[in-house]
Amino acid sequence: MPAPSFTRPILVLGATGGFGLAVTRALLAAGARVRALVRDEARARRALGEDASRVALRVGDALQAEAVSRAAEGCSHLVHAINVPYPEWDTVMERVTTNVIAAARAQGATIVFAGNVYNLAPRYDVPLTESHPEGPITHKGTLRMRMEHALRDATQAGDVRVLVVRANDYFGPTVRNGGVDPMFLNALAGKALLTLTDPTRAHEMAYVPDVARATVALMGLADGPAFDVVHVRGFVTPTSRDFLEAVARAAGAPARVRRLPWWLIRVGGLFNGMAREVVEMRYLYENTLLLDDATLRRRVPDFTYTPLEQALRETLESYRHHASRA
Ligand SMILES: NC(=O)c1ccc[n+]([C@@H]2O[C@H](COP(=O)([O-])OP(=O)(O)OC[C@H]3O[C@@H](n4cnc5c(N)ncnc54)[C@H](OP(=O)(O)O)[C@@H]3O)[C@@H](O)[C@H]2O)c1
Repeated sequence: MPAPSFTRPILVLGATGGFGLAVTRALLAAGARVRALVRDEARARRALGEDASRVALRVGDALQAEAVSRAAEGCSHLVHAINVPYPEWDTVMERVTTNVIAAARAQGATIVFAGNVYNLAPRYDVPLTESHPEGPITHKGTLRMRMEHALRDATQAGDVRVLVVRANDYFGPTVRNGGVDPMFLNALAGKALLTLTDPTRAHEMAYVPDVARATVALMGLADGPAFDVVHVRGFVTPTSRDFLEAVARAAGAPARVRRLPWWLIRVGGLFNGMAREVVEMRYLYENTLLLDDATLRRRVPDFTYTPLEQALRETLESYRHHASRA
């Protein structure tokens, strides 16, 4: 795949996070000049590791419109990879999106947004294409729909473009969260792998370096509409138990899987906002919602996905070295 050429700098918001760090690395590999707005410079340097010297760090908070606008000066793209724990989504996610839109508008830039599947109308019998209708059934899904509407509406005046790269649940060397950590850390500790998914059904897991490479390839194309949505596929094993057993095998651990009971999460939800928010997403753990990547394959015909064994090896390796990014 020839590297796209980027002439102006690219601003990444969330460059210490799962998607943002992976995109930062993919952009550097493509020869782009990368700038990152980070809240904590020392944490960012640790997360970026040897790439820290190749990224222009700007310290600031994406909740401050002025900080985003200043960091975006001269940039061709703003990668919106900001995330916060679920209980904070209501107060943070739309505000940050408003700031990103204003900053992009001032630069005539393209916003690159990491879409998820929460805003889609659930359907489990076929992989969903980009024309699949919205139809969120949760509070967080409705919020994500509003965020994507704000991004779409921002393109109407013609001074901003938007690329939404939609994927299912992430895993990979840069991803750390309560969904994937209990799989990979337990596998390395030789313990049963903990999961919320129904082990008898398939659950799509997107390898974030693949999502990031696809994103950078799409950023380098000039063929999309002003509001462009592209789906990236993840790994789909016949059942999620097969995926978990592959993780265990890659770690050299016994293939033991333990499903966390929903009643326990519900009880946890009485005391803990995060557990309450997870319960709302139960439909995605109990059903198989797949994405169709035909658009990506048509637009980037030579795009290749990482083989599963390699993806698991690379992910486990990162957990061995950095149990936590912080
Ligand atoms: N995780 C998934 O499975 C998944 C799947 C599909 C789509 N997505 C979407 O992808 C996007 C990124 O998610 P992620 O999981 O990659 O995120 P993540 O790993 O939780 O990282 C979040 C990033 O946002 C930064 N951040 C948070 N608040 C900030 C603020 N006020 N100012 C500046 N930076 C701030 C964090 O920086 P600090 O170092 O300062 O904390 C961190 O770099 C989200 O929209 C998410 O919904 C995620």
